Amino acid sequence: MDFSTKSADKKNSLQTIKTDCLAIGIDNNGKPACNETLPDGLAQAIQALYATGDITGKPGTVLLTNAPEGLAAKRLLLVGLGDEKRSSKDARKAIDTLTGALKPINAKNVLVALPKGLVNGNTDETVYTLVTSFYSQTYQPGAFKKKKAPAYKIQKVVLYIPSADTAIVKKALAQAKAINEGRNYAKDLGNLPANICTPSYLAKEALSLAKQYGFTVEVLEKKQIESLKMGSFLSVAKGSDEPPRLIILKHTKGKAKEAPAVLVGKGITFDSGGISLKPGAGMDEMKYDMCGAASVLGTFKAIGEMGLKSNVIGIIPTCENMPSGKANKPGDIVTSMSGQTIEILNTDAEGRLILCDALTYAERFKPDAVVDIATLTGACIIALGHIKSGLFTRDDEAHEALAAALTQAAKSTNDPLWRLPVDDAYQSQLDSNFADMANVGGRPAGSITAACFLERFTKQYTWAHLDVAGTAWTSGKNKGATGRPVPLLCQWLIDRKG
Ligand code: BES
Ligand code: MN
Ligand code: ZN
Repeated sequence: MDFSTKSADKKNSLQTIKTDCLAIGIDNNGKPACNETLPDGLAQAIQALYATGDITGKPGTVLLTNAPEGLAAKRLLLVGLGDEKRSSKDARKAIDTLTGALKPINAKNVLVALPKGLVNGNTDETVYTLVTSFYSQTYQPGAFKKKKAPAYKIQKVVLYIPSADTAIVKKALAQAKAINEGRNYAKDLGNLPANICTPSYLAKEALSLAKQYGFTVEVLEKKQIESLKMGSFLSVAKGSDEPPRLIILKHTKGKAKEAPAVLVGKGITFDSGGISLKPGAGMDEMKYDMCGAASVLGTFKAIGEMGLKSNVIGIIPTCENMPSGKANKPGDIVTSMSGQTIEILNTDAEGRLILCDALTYAERFKPDAVVDIATLTGACIIALGHIKSGLFTRDDEAHEALAAALTQAAKSTNDPLWRLPVDDAYQSQLDSNFADMANVGGRPAGSITAACFLERFTKQYTWAHLDVAGTAWTSGKNKGATGRPVPLLCQWLIDRKG
C-alpha cells in the first residue's frame, strides 16, 4: 500500500481532487471536521446527508454514497468523529470504521481529509493510528493456502493536510510505515510453522536483514556458544536435532561513544515443554514461542527503514525445546555463562534458561538499557490476559525512568503494557537445596518469579523485561501473530533519541 500527502492550497481543493473515494470526518452535529472551510456546495451536500439521519456523527458510524454533484471524487465517505473531546479509544474506533468501510468496495485509492489532531490532539499519533489501521486491514498471513482471502482493493492512500503541516506529517508517515513494516515482518515470522522457522532459519533472516539495511551481524553456532560457556542455553538446545544459534545484530548509526540500547528476544522456535512435556491440546501454538525473537527482528527492520540515528544491539538466543534421550531432565544442574548454577526442576521453564546466558552476554556492550522480550509465562496470561503485556523492572531511580519511558511509548502506539514488581521478597521462591537457584518458583506469582530469575543476570545494567505470552499472538478462529511489542519498542527507541 502506498501512502502520500497532498497539501491543501489554492490548486488542491477537496472539491477538485480526483479520487475514487473522498473520506471526510463529521462531528456530532454533522459539521465537517477537516481543517478546511469546504466550498458551499460540498458543505450543503454533507448537511443534507446528515439530515437523513443515516449517519449520526458518532465514532463508529459511517456513510458511503456516490459523490454529490460538483465533486471530482467518485464516492464520498462520511466518518463520524464525535466531538473534539473524544477519547483516543473513540478516535481509533472512528479510524477503524473508516478503513473497514473501504474493505468491500471497488475503490483503488482514497483521499483522507481527517483533522490532524484526531488522536489525543496529536498529529503523530493520528497519522500512526490511520496507517496502522490500514496495515491491519490488509495483513494476510503467508502463502501456504491455495484459496486466498479476498484482497483489500485500496492501493493508494493520500492524506489531505494543511500545507504548513507537510513536514511534520511526512515524518510521522515515514515512521508509521516503518513501524508497521517491522510489525508485519514479526507477524510473518511468528506465523511460520516450526518445521520451517527453525533457529537456522531465523539466523538466515537476520543475515538478509543485515544485508538489506547495513547492520553488522554475527551468527554463532554450537561450538562458539560452547566456548562462551553458555551452559544453560545449550542445555535446552541439546534435546533437539535442530542446532542452536546465537544471533547478534548491530545498528550503529549513533555517535561512537553513545551507549547502545540492547534488545534480547526469546527464540524458542518450538516449545514442547521437553521432558516436562506440555499437554497436547493447543500445543501447535508453541510455534509462537519465538515471538520475542521476531519482535527484535521486526524492530530492526523498522529502525533500518527509518535510518534511526542511534546505536541498537539485538541478541537472539534460539533453539527448540524438545524431549529426547539427550534432553534436560528434571533435577539436572547446569552452569550458566555467569557462573551461577541452576537446578532445572521443570524443563518447560526453558525461556529463562536461554535468556539468562544472553543477558550475561549483553554486559559486553556496556548498554545504556537492556530490554528483553519473551513469551515467558502462562502466569502472565492469568494476570493480564491478552490485553496488556507485562513490564518488569527493579524500582530504583534509573529503572523507574526506563519503566516510564516504555509505558509512554506503549501508550502512544496503543501497544499497552502494565507494570508488575521485581522485588527481592519473591527471590526466596527460587531457592534450591543443590544449586544457586532453581528454574521455577512454584505457582504463586509465576510471572514475577520468572522475572526475578532473569534479574539475577542483569546486575550490571539498567534492565526491563517484557512478558508477551498473552499479547504476541491471538488464539481461536483468528489465530495469528500480532507483531506486538514491535510498535512500543520502535517508539521507545525513537523517543530516546528525541
Ligand atoms: N512458552 C511458555 C510460556 C507460555 C505458555 C506462553 C502458554 C504462552 C502460552 C514457557 O516456556 C513455559 O512453558 N512456561 C511455564 C513455566 C512454568 C513451568 C514455571 C508455564 O508458564 O507454564
Ligand atoms: Mn516452556
Ligand atoms: Zn517457552
